[in-house]
Parts: sequence; structure tokens; C-alpha cells
Amino acid sequence: MQKLRIGLIGAAAKIAGPCHRNALAAIDAIELVAVCDKNSNALQEIASDLGVVKQYEDYRQLLEDGEIDAVDIIAPPFVHHEIAVAAAEAGKHVYCEKPMTHSLGEARQMVEAAKSAGVKLAVGESYYFHAPHRLAHRLIKEGEIGEIVQVRQTKDVWVFTAAEQARLEGRGHDVPWRFDPQLSGGGEFPFFMDHGSHLFSSARLLAGDLEIETVSALPRPFGYGPEAERRGITAVTWNYVDGVADGVWTQIETPPEAGPYVGFRTEVIGSRGTLRVFGEGGGAAPGWPRVPPVTMLRDGRSVDYCLEDGPDRSWISSNSYYDEAHASTLSRFAASVLEDVPLEYDGHQAMKDLAATLATIRSAIEGRAVEVAKMPDGWKAYGAS
Ligand SMILES: NC(=O)c1ccc[n+]([C@@H]2O[C@H](COP(=O)([O-])OP(=O)(O)OC[C@H]3O[C@@H](n4cnc5c(N)ncnc54)[C@H](O)[C@@H]3O)[C@@H](O)[C@H]2O)c1
Repeated sequence: MQKLRIGLIGAAAKIAGPCHRNALAAIDAIELVAVCDKNSNALQEIASDLGVVKQYEDYRQLLEDGEIDAVDIIAPPFVHHEIAVAAAEAGKHVYCEKPMTHSLGEARQMVEAAKSAGVKLAVGESYYFHAPHRLAHRLIKEGEIGEIVQVRQTKDVWVFTAAEQARLEGRGHDVPWRFDPQLSGGGEFPFFMDHGSHLFSSARLLAGDLEIETVSALPRPFGYGPEAERRGITAVTWNYVDGVADGVWTQIETPPEAGPYVGFRTEVIGSRGTLRVFGEGGGAAPGWPRVPPVTMLRDGRSVDYCLEDGPDRSWISSNSYYDEAHASTLSRFAASVLEDVPLEYDGHQAMKDLAATLATIRSAIEGRAVEVAKMPDGWKAYGAS
């Protein structure tokens, strides 16, 4: 196999679509041979834009295509389990966007289906492979800030570039399943269901793959933007099994002018110093002095690290996230299949972050700290009280 021949399922996706299509086109080791989407008009438009001849409205037909080695699933999470299991059973390697699915039991079935079929199962956890997070991870591994004591993450408001704002017709990430308790999988906390794997995976990368013992959520009675009628989570705290390090994530969405930062950022506090890392859409708020993607603060000085990637296609940010992070994850997936090397972020890794996400929502619902290892396979966030 010289190139990995991919079928893209959910190809017309509003948010994930452009970055996957751009990333797939940019990777030499990948050939996009077919696109699939239930939305036939959008499918035709995308196939003709990409010059891809094969089009399928039903993913089951795509799975019968012997010229396809692997599927890239960017359909919504409520179909991830069904499509991923069917793809593995059809002998296709699977790359599936986060969140992996709605329950740990479904996730386990996805892992087992891939194992039985002898195919790879990668989950598209872009934050885990995002360049500033990888740079910080390397500095931490080299001992630059000593032993990790705490991971502090913040989700501030995201600000789109003008071009992205125009593409999204000013409606942002407003696709109906994202705010629906059942379709999102998050019950009254849909945003957290969508975002949880991002924060827990990047925190885990930076903390050195420590296992989380318990999570504790502070819920609030409203969500932001289109999910105002739902509930939200203002803060999550967690402690790692070793009992030494812990973590905290907070969300606050003030207008960008309030500054000084926008998007996602992490501070990793070590015994010798601190790293400040900007993630998705992260950087200085408009009108505030620019900031580099990674800064190390130690011994009374700060050292800035810049990256070669340019400004983001989607966000006002000091680092490139959309497209760059996705190209990084997809090229690792291709290499893993073509060279038969283990995946760094596979179904098992994704299950850890799904478990922490579900445990956080359970903590918000039940008003108590929740042990992640004790999350039952069958627990789902919708219908839970
Ligand atoms: N890693 C990231 O940073 C990142 C960013 C954006 C989105 N995502 C993930 O990507 C996925 C898609 O998100 P989105 O907001 O772009 O979704 P979307 O709703 O805009 O698009 C989903 C597409 O899938 C199609 N679809 C639905 N069911 C299908 C089926 N059974 N067969 C074929 N096509 C089907 C829809 O017609 C639609 O075109 C989600 O899992 C989301 O969490 C990840």
C-alpha cells in the first residue's frame, strides 16, 4: 500500500468539513477516493470542488468499495458508534472525530470491533496533536519546568476571522445536534460533551499521561450563545491518581474587547517554572498586545517560543489550529496504517478522555465528586438525573 485510500463520511460537515478536506488534500500519504454524505446536494458540490469521482449518500455502500482502505468519519457523534463498528467489520481502518461516542460501552464496542477485524481505530483528538501543545509537551519532557504540580486551563470566547465569519453566515458553530441534549450526547451540558475530550486530552498530554482519579464540576444554570436555554459548567477540578498533581478548567465568555486573551489556553505549573500555552483560537484579544503561542516563565524571566505555522484560517489567534492540527492527526493515522506502527491516540486513549468527560457531567448533575474509574459502561448524560 503506497498511499492510504480514504473515504470521507460526513464530507459536507459545516465545521469539521473544511479542515478535513484541506488536511486530506495536503497529506502526500493519503488519497481521498470517495466522499459520502446524507445531504446529496452538498455532496455533489463537494465532490466536484475536490475532483473526487466517487460519491455515496449511504455509508454502507462506501464500505463495500474495495478501493477504500480507511474511512474518516466526520459525521456527528450520534452516528460514530454505528459507522465505526460497521467500517471495522468491513475491514476498513477507522479514523473517527471526537467525541468518540455517547457512552463508554459504545466506545468499548468500537475498540473491540477494530481489534477483532485487525484494523486501526484512531480518534480525531486534534488538541492532543496541536503544535503548541506538542512543543510544551517536549519542554516538559526535557525537564524545563521540573515536576508537574498543576494544569490550569481556560476557555475564553472564540473569535472568528472575517472570512470564516462570512462562510458561517455569522451563525458560528450553530448546527442543531450540537445543542440537542440527546443528539449531542451531553444532556443539559452539550458544550461540555463536545469540548471535554479536548481539555482532558491536552491536560493529560501535558501532565505526562497521569490517570485522573476524581472530577468535580461546578455547574451554572445557563449555557453560552445558542445553548443559553441549556446548562453549563463554569469550572471542573480534578486530581490525578498519584495524588501530587491536579488540574482545573474554567470557562468564561466575556466580549473579546474585555481581553486580554481569547480562546483556549493552558498554564502548566511545574516545581521549577510555568509554561503558558495557547490552544484552539487562543491568543491576545483584538486590540491587546500580541502574545506568542508558548511562553516559559522561570527564574524571573520569560522565554517566548514561536512556531512556523502561520495565522489560523478560522480563528483570530496567535497559532494555527484548524487545518494544521487536523493535518497532524490525519498524517499520523496514515503513517500508523502504512508503516504498521502503533497509534499514539487510539480508542483506548480516547476512552480515558470520554470517561473523564462523562464523569464531569455526572458530577454536575449529582452535585458530588465522581470517580472516573467507576463510571459505568451504560451511563449516558441524557436522561440522567
Ligand atoms: N477536532 C476538532 O477540533 C473538531 C472540530 C469541529 C468538529 N469536530 C467534530 O466533527 C464532527 C462533525 O462536526 P460538525 O459540526 O462539522 O457537524 P455537521 O453537523 O456540520 O456535519 C455533519 C455532516 O454529517 C452528515 N451526516 C450525518 N449523518 C450521516 C450519515 N449517517 N452518513 C453520512 N453522512 C452523515 C451530515 O449531513 C453533515 O453534512 C463532530 O463529531 C464534531 O465534534 C471536531
